[in-house]
Amino acid sequence: MKSVSDLIYLLGGTNKVANYLNIKPSAVSNWKKKNIIPKNKQKLIKDLCLIHKTNIYENLFTENSNNTHNNVLLIISGGVASYKSIEIIRLIKKTKINLDIIITKSAQKFITPLLVTSLNEKKCYTDLFSIEDEAEMNHISLARKADIILIAPATANLIAKMANGIADDLASTTILASLAKIIIAPSMNPVMWNSSVTRDNCKKLVDRGVVFIEPETGDMACGEHGVGRLPEPKFIFDELINELNTKKEFKNNRLKDITVIITAGPTEEDIDPVRFVSNKSSGKQAYAIASELSDRGADVTLITGPTRTSLPLNLKVIEVRTADEMYQTTMSNLPADVVICAAAVADWKLTPNIDESNYFDLKNKIKKTEKSISFKTIQNPDILLSVSKGKLKPKLTIGFAAETKDLIKNAKEKLITKDVDLIIANDVSNNKVFGSDFNKVYIIDKYKCEEWVKQSKKSVAINLANKINEYFTLKSGFLNK
Ligand code: C5P
Repeated sequence: MKSVSDLIYLLGGTNKVANYLNIKPSAVSNWKKKNIIPKNKQKLIKDLCLIHKTNIYENLFTENSNNTHNNVLLIISGGVASYKSIEIIRLIKKTKINLDIIITKSAQKFITPLLVTSLNEKKCYTDLFSIEDEAEMNHISLARKADIILIAPATANLIAKMANGIADDLASTTILASLAKIIIAPSMNPVMWNSSVTRDNCKKLVDRGVVFIEPETGDMACGEHGVGRLPEPKFIFDELINELNTKKEFKNNRLKDITVIITAGPTEEDIDPVRFVSNKSSGKQAYAIASELSDRGADVTLITGPTRTSLPLNLKVIEVRTADEMYQTTMSNLPADVVICAAAVADWKLTPNIDESNYFDLKNKIKKTEKSISFKTIQNPDILLSVSKGKLKPKLTIGFAAETKDLIKNAKEKLITKDVDLIIANDVSNNKVFGSDFNKVYIIDKYKCEEWVKQSKKSVAINLANKINEYFTLKSGFLNK
């Protein structure tokens, strides 16, 4: 059975199809991710199939309608534990999962491509620069097709490459080019596993959302004892199935195909070419919300100021610096079904007061001076207000209220003055929220104020996504309850 990825590939790739339909390539990527072509585009795709003389379209919509079948890419890197991946392949082959396999050069010292090909009943991929592999399925197609990439076993070397963006063979290049969820099952000598550099690399990957199946403690093939052994294939297989099921868990999902814009992080307001004012926003809460909505199939654009938090991988991100840039970018990305303004936008730009006795050439760094400098404030545009009062007002507008006192009172005021549907209020006094992985929020609409228990920012994102889903499920929205 073929997938939407296969079809798009046969039609010339994402960009060509997007061009032909006059839509954004990200929309086509989304179809591939969800393995569904929206009804209103099916006729055009059918026409394109006729032009390309391909008949897989019919298969796709008869055999596979409404069915998100799962494409797994298994990457086997080199280590004594590579032999266990053979059993993983056997277990996957008993399911309806569509499996592609890459074996690295060092893995081929332990298992052969011939063995893997016969077990998987299709070609396994080994070489970035093979004409044959490129003609059949290149690294970009492999990367796009996968819903989940499972790396088992993952060597310290492959983990290091992933953490540092090195793409020097088929496996590492495909991983770098993919937006799919990644599961890693590391296996290596205990000293290598515990070394600070491997720890740092793993931490980086965890921060980027990679799921780890931790190695077990036991006797190693090298004769040493400790943590580093690959868990049993059945355990790894069960984890893979869990992850695939998590993807499908969203019942009555109304977030598929809705468009969302989220602003995030702080903004930086320049004083001179080297100095700026900013704030402590980490962007973590907004990134978690953006990721969650994207995971549920929404077409999300994240517009973020500069943060130290890893950017989500599964959606479109536009990085900006100043409030003016964030404003321009947000307005030019409208319309959207939902706009969530979570950014801590600087309310003012600062500019030194200039008079005859005090002149500053702001094109150059302000020199240290004996005299004190006073600044005047220039108000920045209010993005949320412009969105909610604008001609392209979204179906749902959500704002944040980060307050250090009178939280609920100020939040309710914002709900009215900014004309938004929902305010998420949090108390940011004493550094309680900025940079933390936890959040305590109140959800306020015209009719009520819900207090949510303190929870992880990820959990707030899940609950908020449920709430937005509820809004699009009940036609009247949650606001009338
Ligand atoms: O007025 P205040 O900054 O407290 O309002 C907070 C809400 O307004 C947040 O949702 C924030 O993202 C948004 N906002 C904005 N543009 C500004 C200031 C705030 O979008 N210039």
